[in-house]
Amino acid sequence: MKKIIIAIDGHSSTGKSTLARALGEALGYKYISTGDMYRAVTLYFLRHGVPLDDPEAVRQALSQIRLEFETGPNGNRILMNGQDVQDEIRSMEVADMVSQVAAIPEVRREMVRQQRLIGRDKGVVMDGRDIGTVVFPDAELKIFLTASPEVRARRRYEELRAQGMDVSLDEVRRNIEARDRIDSTREDSPLRMADDAVLIDNSKLTPQEQLNRALALARARIEDC
Ligand code: DC
Repeated sequence: MKKIIIAIDGHSSTGKSTLARALGEALGYKYISTGDMYRAVTLYFLRHGVPLDDPEAVRQALSQIRLEFETGPNGNRILMNGQDVQDEIRSMEVADMVSQVAAIPEVRREMVRQQRLIGRDKGVVMDGRDIGTVVFPDAELKIFLTASPEVRARRRYEELRAQGMDVSLDEVRRNIEARDRIDSTREDSPLRMADDAVLIDNSKLTPQEQLNRALALARARIEDC
């Protein structure tokens, strides 16, 4: 059976990685949340005090970062220079800075290069902001996820609280709104829906309903190939 590339883009906290993982597992494909890669780079920059406005320092720092994914019983975990940073990259400290880091052209160039290598042999579900527009403009299936800002803030808030983080709903809402604004207005690869993407608004869908819809689309595309 021919393998395809599935690109999932959309706004912050729309459940892109949940869908990518479920699709990957159902199809036997790899799944990669590219937001985790930008978050891991952000964590490195925070730890080492890398000045974001110094392209040479940014390039030098990028050359020191090695990212890998490890699949375990709880899904993919990202390793940075051999250290599991999956939990740390979800902190508000990283969330508050990641959009600024992801707007740096040197950072994007390096992440896109690594993402294309991961998808070289197809059979991959990748989620992010620019997967269908920049990383894989020829992806056989592109999905653009959205949901109302209230629903997104509530979902992310509950997720963070469940992890024991001390945040307020208002703080989470402001962070989501700020990230949407920076991600959609940045000069390099802004978040936008590809012309040939399928739009899914999941405000009123259960994860299972959303997966069924996406799986039907994926199976139809795989048969067409
Ligand atoms: O999907 P996420 O919320 O974990 O992504 C974190 C940030 O990374 C998000 O604010 C925008 C950025 N990002 C990006 O610019 N391009 C991608 N392909 C993925 C994420």
